[in-house]
Amino acid sequence: MAMDLYCVMGNPVEHSKSPWIHARFAELTGQTLQYGKRLVPLDGFAPTVRAFIAEGGRGCNITVPFKFEAVTLASQVSERATLAQAANVLSFSTGAIHADNTDGVGLVNDIQRNAGLDLNGRQLLLIGAGGASAGVLGPLLLARPASITVANRTLSKASALVARHAELALLQKTELVAQDLQGLAGSFDVVINATASSLSGAGVPVPASTLKPGALAYDMMYGPAAQGFMTWAGEHGAQARDGLGMLVEQAAEAFLIWRGVLPPSQQVLAELRAVTHQRSR
Ligand code: ATR
Repeated sequence: MAMDLYCVMGNPVEHSKSPWIHARFAELTGQTLQYGKRLVPLDGFAPTVRAFIAEGGRGCNITVPFKFEAVTLASQVSERATLAQAANVLSFSTGAIHADNTDGVGLVNDIQRNAGLDLNGRQLLLIGAGGASAGVLGPLLLARPASITVANRTLSKASALVARHAELALLQKTELVAQDLQGLAGSFDVVINATASSLSGAGVPVPASTLKPGALAYDMMYGPAAQGFMTWAGEHGAQARDGLGMLVEQAAEAFLIWRGVLPPSQQVLAELRAVTHQRSR
């Protein structure tokens, strides 16, 4: 019998850790599947997905820069992917493409389960208002923090993101506000960096006064891209955490959607940290 086929699609995709993560999930849960990676031409997302379906593909993860296009291609879109206007998981059944977004729940699970910080009642700062922020704001609201401040260099983008989530914030009784980076005041229990500033070498875009003593400072990136933010956080008395756990937890939720089984994500995260640590020495 042919193995169930999955893959990660993106551009670039060469350094994706998803094949390794899903292979470990499959081993540890006794599932038989094959998970590869596909480099998608920048103008060729839809044909690549259709070709994969024709080969018998059951589902795929979507990464940069196709998460937005993934939503428009789908015939069914989950509530959280609709709110994010982006999808990182596609599932294929006869004639249908289902889109979902597990990035936000991955972040929340990593903070609450792995870092052990309950978000309920906390004051959160989310820096950035691009695709990365859009993917996580809904699930962060579902964790019922006291407040979320979305701060962005371009205020209009933060305002639009906040407006789209205003109804959910009201339901959750969370105060949700948009800010520009210049006018940012106050301090927070959790500061989440969802900007691309580290990639351009621009440094941390908020002052250290945003960190309450012992705050959790979380960069959604990992590896060298997160290092500047992590060092800054450590130097100012915060607990620094990179996005490796979010990567594993979003994958675990995708695995659950596809296979109906929740894999042991904490074990796989510990293994991935050990492997990454060895390689970087
Ligand atoms: P992604 O999908 O990774 O979120 P994006 O949608 O291009 O990428 O969004 C990038 C985010 O990083 C934006 O919030 C951007 O701010 P603007 O909306 O003002 O462009 C933010 N960003 C990028 N470089 C930055 C910098 N040097 N300082 C502060 N914010 C920066």
